Amino acid sequence: MQEKLSHLRTEVESAIKSVKSSADLEVIQNKYFSRKGEIALMMQELGKLSPEEKPKAGQLLNETKKHLEALFEEKSQKIRADGMAAELEKEWVDVTAPGIPYKAGHVHPISQVQYEVEEIFSSMGFSIEDGPEVESEYYNFESLNIPASHPARDMQDTFFVDKEGDSELGRLVLRTQTSPVQMRTMQTKGAPLRIIVPGRVFRNEATDASHDATFYQVEGLLIDENISLAHLKGVMQEFLSKLFKKNVLVRFRPGYFPFVEPGLEMDFACLICNQKGCRVCKQSGWVEFMGAGMVHPNVLKAGKIDSKKYQGWAFGFGLTRLVMMKYGITDIRLLFGADTRFLNQF
Ligand code: DAH
Repeated sequence: MQEKLSHLRTEVESAIKSVKSSADLEVIQNKYFSRKGEIALMMQELGKLSPEEKPKAGQLLNETKKHLEALFEEKSQKIRADGMAAELEKEWVDVTAPGIPYKAGHVHPISQVQYEVEEIFSSMGFSIEDGPEVESEYYNFESLNIPASHPARDMQDTFFVDKEGDSELGRLVLRTQTSPVQMRTMQTKGAPLRIIVPGRVFRNEATDASHDATFYQVEGLLIDENISLAHLKGVMQEFLSKLFKKNVLVRFRPGYFPFVEPGLEMDFACLICNQKGCRVCKQSGWVEFMGAGMVHPNVLKAGKIDSKKYQGWAFGFGLTRLVMMKYGITDIRLLFGADTRFLNQF
């Protein structure tokens, strides 16, 4: 019995020593320490000994058992601690490391200039209006004094929408200009009015460096008592000077648009060459900027505004062209592409 015990003791000691994982621990637990393990078997054998042998052998067995259990427990704790350390090592995060840069988008150059335009006109008491991009023929043309038979319809090559329109308002079109919002606002808000309408418009154009089938305009409309073109000149001079952050001269030339009378075109003094003549102003010293004029009485009438009491002016300019001019962009298609190498410059 004594011999057997000391043999078991060395066997278990070396087994515990070579343990590397909790799986190894489990094997040892089962083989030696379980209810049917080797130590339990020894206990059974103890029962078979003579009364003289029993006490001594019993004491020895108890000692050995305690010793081995303590060894086993110590090893178990170490294995558990090592396991936890390895786990922690895996989960370790360096909270002081620099973060992964987040790619933030930014406002498109057209929107940037649009917001500037809105801010300047707001500061002069204009409110910002909006209207549908799919418009009726009535609002896009008829109500603005452009009947179907009028040759001015040819000025704007139109996309028709393949869907029944309203029988009174005519077919549906993609609006060719922001001017229909003049009419909508006159009808819903009445006089006096001071509005601008930035928005997207569409024309059936062949695309090239300076034309696209989609572009942006800004419409303006001011209606009140005793209004003249002098107010328009003052407002536009103030607007352009604020936008370009220097004094900008403007001039009027006669022009034709069915919804204004008299109609005019407005140019501003070329900012690139200070009117000495360059490619941008085609050596003229002036850059064509917009159409405008005094609102036609037929338009006021359609807008249900008393033309005896009120009059006003309207204008429309190309926001896309303004952005191109402001940043010296020579191809309109860049603005509507999604090339971030281009867009990230703004
Ligand atoms: N809607 C015109 C266009 O797209 C521009 C325009 C001209 C607007 C004269 C106006 C205006 O309000 O009075 O060509």
